[in-house]
Amino acid sequence: MMLRHVSSLTPGAVSLRHSTTVASSSNASGSLMRSSQAGRSLQQKFYENRILDRYTSQEPKKVTLRQLVLFGRQLTEDKLIASANYVRSELPVRLAHRISDFQYLPYIAGTNPHLQMVYDLYWRAFDEFRKFPVVKTLDDNRRFCDNVKKNLLEHSQVIPQLGMGVAECAELVAPEEIDRFMGQMLISRISRRTLGEQHLVLSEQFDDDLRAHLGLRPEESFAQLGRAPRGFATQRIGIVRADCSVAQVVHECAQRAAGIYEDAYHLPPGSAPQVLVEGHVGASFMCIPAHFSYIVHELLRNSMAHVIGRFAHRLESKTHVEGPLFPPIRVTICASHSDIVVRVSDEGGGISPEVLPFIWSFTHPLKAKHLHNFHAIHRMEARVDEADVVPPLVSFGFGLPMSRVYARYWGGNVNVQSMPGYGVDAYVQMPRLGNVVENISARRSL
Ligand SMILES: Nc1ncnc2c1ncn2[C@@H]1O[C@H](COP(=O)(O)OP(=O)(O)OP(=O)(O)O)[C@@H](O)[C@H]1O
Ligand SMILES: [Mg+2]
Repeated sequence: MMLRHVSSLTPGAVSLRHSTTVASSSNASGSLMRSSQAGRSLQQKFYENRILDRYTSQEPKKVTLRQLVLFGRQLTEDKLIASANYVRSELPVRLAHRISDFQYLPYIAGTNPHLQMVYDLYWRAFDEFRKFPVVKTLDDNRRFCDNVKKNLLEHSQVIPQLGMGVAECAELVAPEEIDRFMGQMLISRISRRTLGEQHLVLSEQFDDDLRAHLGLRPEESFAQLGRAPRGFATQRIGIVRADCSVAQVVHECAQRAAGIYEDAYHLPPGSAPQVLVEGHVGASFMCIPAHFSYIVHELLRNSMAHVIGRFAHRLESKTHVEGPLFPPIRVTICASHSDIVVRVSDEGGGISPEVLPFIWSFTHPLKAKHLHNFHAIHRMEARVDEADVVPPLVSFGFGLPMSRVYARYWGGNVNVQSMPGYGVDAYVQMPRLGNVVENISARRSL
């Protein structure tokens, strides 16, 4: 009854859904027994899996950026509460599909302690959200927001844990299978964080604007007010920007990346490769700046690292006396009616031919050795502003594949063209109008 699936890819492999049963009845696997799921009785697990099935039979209700913007504009109390209930009912559905992915992993991967940890975190979050009572008032919403915040914080360990987990399984499971699994996990994670963060920021903006409207001082609470005055609405739109300036994002990322490498390599201030921005420099588009910035930042980080690496000898050279130490990185912006395309061109020597075939993989042995570096950090949210937790000179082999996940989530893409011995052209394409639905798949990736 519990056996759902037998993997065709690993000889003798069985799914976690089956294997938890085996382990709990025979005490066969220490790692499984540590799992909160595995510690439960067969009957309880059967019941839990029935609940999970109820959720996995539902399709996620996907949104577009445009919908998020339209919903966030003119935000009233009723709309805020509707937003809370959408997130409350949507998160368990999205979590259930990924829990199901774990259960269908080949047994050998299912016993990995890092993947087990994420599996347990997801079960806990699934349980918490599905049991959270319907949000009816602003006070309920505040409690709901606390729950969302707690979850976002707890789940900041997910990327390192997944990274270590897939690195350890890299030689045990077919690479395409584990890559697909990782891709699904990451894209779904972005989608859940997008919904959670959007709701949190909308709630904060609503509270702030309501306080200002009522003339309350910071220390005064309006909890006793119960409801917002009729007709009260805010204009802000959470984490989405309707007119994000591409050039501004590039300039901010360039400054940040230059700072990182000047510090890390003890370069004189201002000596990092210059970033020249060309093309449609006035272009703007609808996006979540945190997602777009991540991509641009990772591409610029790669370019700077390789340009500096290739021309580092000039730092010592007595013959180089004039002009910049490094050739510039050129960023070209192109805005068509429907898309934004950004090209990042460097003269860092190109991508080495041994690495090139695997740059998008999480699990090829050449990449997996970098993923083991995740042992050194406890959390990573894949944001640009986490230099405090992510050491600048440690390579996780994660920047390019993660950038592609961010781009594809909103229907875009990232590609690179290497020019051996010369440099790299990296391209980001993003739909411009915000009318593309989230690119998440409900079904198992196998
Ligand atoms: N602009 C570039 N020039 C030369 N090689 C590059 C460039 N961009 C990427 N690469 C190569 O592709 C590999 C994968 O890049 P990716 O950004 O995914 O990982 P990383 O830079 O090694 O680590 P992380 O991004 O996690 O810090 C790099 O290790 C490097 O070998
Ligand atoms: Mg990188």
